[in-house]
Amino acid sequence: MISKKIEDAFNDQINAELYSAYIYMAMSAYLESVDLSGMARWMTVQAQEEVDHAKKFADHIVERGGRVRYKAIDCPQEEWKSALDVFKGAYDHERYVTGRINSLMDIAIEEKDYASQVFLHWFIEEQVEEEASADAIVKKLEMIGEGGRGIYMVDKDLGKREAD
Ligand code: FEO
Repeated sequence: MISKKIEDAFNDQINAELYSAYIYMAMSAYLESVDLSGMARWMTVQAQEEVDHAKKFADHIVERGGRVRYKAIDCPQEEWKSALDVFKGAYDHERYVTGRINSLMDIAIEEKDYASQVFLHWFIEEQVEEEASADAIVKKLEMIGEGGRGIYMVDKDLGKREAD
């Protein structure tokens, strides 16, 4: 049985994962508006991954005899200055999520909830990947520079991303 403290914290994380999906969908909409449809696709796939993350937390709560509760999702940012600004935002957001996952691990340790600690390991590894992939795109876009023609190559490349 899951403790009330972990159940509440995991339900908050479901909300944070769905908010992440919402941010990436908003980023996708912005990128479509500036004709970077490959990057927009990358963001759509990213958003789907976030919904999958929320589902993993929900499944864990149910498996442990807890109750899943969905809360209101905040409005995401709507506008960015450039593709670089978008991916910098994505990188910063992933760093924030990493902090949240680490705090959940702290709670699971405090609560002596070993099953949740094992469950959270997947997310700790996933966050390493999430930060690295956003950071790699930021570095590429910085190399190209604002208004560089290479942005269309990056756009084409990112458009090849498939759902996992
Ligand atoms: Fe669910 Fe991008 O971390």
